[in-house]
Amino acid sequence: MGILVTGGTGYIGSHTVVELLEIGEEVIIVDNLCNSSIDVLDKIEMITGKRPVFYEIDLLDKEKLEFVFKEHQIESVIHFAGLKAVGESVKIPLTYYENNITGTLNLCKIMEKYECRNLVFSSSATVYGMNNTAPFREDMPLSTTNPYGTTKLMIENILRDLYVANHDWHIVLLRYFNPIGAHESGLLGENPKGIPNNLLPYVMQVAIGKLECLSIYGDDYDTKDGTGVRDYIHVVDLAKGHISAVEYARKHEGAEAINLGTGNGYSVLEVVKAFEEASHKHVNYRIAPRRDGDIAICYADASKAKKLLNWEAQKTIDEMCMDSYRFIEKLANA
Ligand code: NAD
Ligand code: UD1
Repeated sequence: MGILVTGGTGYIGSHTVVELLEIGEEVIIVDNLCNSSIDVLDKIEMITGKRPVFYEIDLLDKEKLEFVFKEHQIESVIHFAGLKAVGESVKIPLTYYENNITGTLNLCKIMEKYECRNLVFSSSATVYGMNNTAPFREDMPLSTTNPYGTTKLMIENILRDLYVANHDWHIVLLRYFNPIGAHESGLLGENPKGIPNNLLPYVMQVAIGKLECLSIYGDDYDTKDGTGVRDYIHVVDLAKGHISAVEYARKHEGAEAINLGTGNGYSVLEVVKAFEEASHKHVNYRIAPRRDGDIAICYADASKAKKLLNWEAQKTIDEMCMDSYRFIEKLANA
């Protein structure tokens, strides 16, 4: 009996695979490598001493995907695979809808056929939209501002409908806040291609001298220092949240949305300062205009995860910054 991890060579997927292997689970990864590298398998093996089964398959290829279910007895699925760049999703929405939605429909149809109905899905805090006030609770009204976010909300709705139609489904919809950090070995982390869109990857590139200066998008928000506030969560804490979510899904029918965040908010300036202290590097920045679609404050009410999953984030912002820096420094010197 194995756990299928779609998108398992990606940033969050690879850290989750490490945690799964370390508790003795059998892991089968499906990834088309559109945003990750095959080398990740070596890194996972270096950390855990185990090599997961890997298939280079696109979720849009239903026949190949079904082959995996024929070959292995899949007991649960953690579904990370998807495209995730907000700006890109505005430019090529059809690609995003096809990849994320059709990919998920293919997966669910095959799961139904093989009577594998334990599913943990990667949703996002982006589904809370622009009109709620933090802390965000799972029962707040949902809305989105870009095609990427809309795919997440549509998939949540599809999965809720699936449960209504068949109460044998055991689904957990995990709404991640802002994952950052890296494995403490420095072997796994996030290294986006091109110029990073997200804060930490950009800060990391400035710290190692690959980019010159961070633009801080707005210092006139109604926040502690005027810059945007977010709930940054260490990727290893997030990975551990998936272990708890799989265990929960095995025991509970439903389609339950659960936030994975720390419940704390840090401003952009606080993150820059924490990163400078952790790395002993100076991070150049300038204040730039606000970025379209940004909200002032976003952080989780993390109490449902504690109650249902018996999980809470452990790692501090300093550990997140230290581990991020160890990873980027190692990569830069490789
Ligand atoms: P990632 O890009 O590092 O990992 C996603 C993986 O999925 C990649 O390895 C990619 O090659 C693969 N993939 C994409 N489309 C595929 C397809 N059609 N078939 C097979 N493989 C495919 O991203 P991540 O940061 O690890 O995010 C994982 C999931 O979590 C995504 O669904 C993302 O939307 C969601 N999420 C991420 C964040 C974040 O800040 N990183 C926040 C909220 C939600
Ligand atoms: C962004 C996405 C969100 C997605 C999440 C994870 C947008 C509007 N939102 O969230 O949908 O789920 O990434 O992929 O893109 N910042 C700077 N300078 C930078 C980069 C960021 O000042 O170069 C600021 C932002 O204004 C924000 C904070 O840093 O206040 C965090 O930004 P980011 O890392 O992009 O995450 P989110 O905007 O929270």
